[in-house]
Amino acid sequence: MNAFRIAVLASGTGSNLQAILDVLHEPESPEGESAGAESALARIEVVGVASDKPGALALGRATEAGVETAVFAGDRFEDRAARDLALGDWIESRQADLIVLAGYMQLLTPGFVQRFAGRVINVHPALLPAFPGLDGIGQTLAYGATVGGVTVHFVDEGVDSGPVLLQRAVPVPPDRDRATFESAIHATEHELLPEAIRLIASGRVTLGPGRSVRLSP
Ligand code: GRF
Repeated sequence: MNAFRIAVLASGTGSNLQAILDVLHEPESPEGESAGAESALARIEVVGVASDKPGALALGRATEAGVETAVFAGDRFEDRAARDLALGDWIESRQADLIVLAGYMQLLTPGFVQRFAGRVINVHPALLPAFPGLDGIGQTLAYGATVGGVTVHFVDEGVDSGPVLLQRAVPVPPDRDRATFESAIHATEHELLPEAIRLIASGRVTLGPGRSVRLSP
């Protein structure tokens, strides 16, 4: 069975990328695909990590794992459409089956979203549709909510507005300490995002009609 190939886009620290590398990433063995017993589940390989930030820590994590990297900084392109066209071409050259946004801080253009329709997912640190956009953790705390959480969703043209794939609640600690809550959110992300990727890679996720996402057993 051929590998399920994922490309990850990240702008920052890359702790979610690291979770994917640690939990899922299996580089091709020197003997190639035919070696070993045939498994029912596809091997998952991170085939590329791209960033809009040349200094993103995520790029170093990718290099460390032997994964190819690329940078698409905004100032090197005429506009967002040109940047996303180049980014999309690079992703296609890596033959990625799925694109994972793991702390990617750029809004993708409609052209990019349509080009890879149903093949882009994002992790967001709140229980959508509550608290979309920047700083979902801060928004959850500022609102006075007693429960926050993590959402993994498909990406559409809006901001954190695509169909939900997985969600998990995370209680706000009684003292509402941001550092404690943030580390609980990140620990949950590091479980939920690999889980979502594994579900898609195993062919158990069907999208649509409308916003529906069906999980088969
Ligand atoms: C995560 O909290 C993710 O939900 C949000 O950006 C953050 C990225 O963190 N979209 P990291 O770079 O993966 O450590």
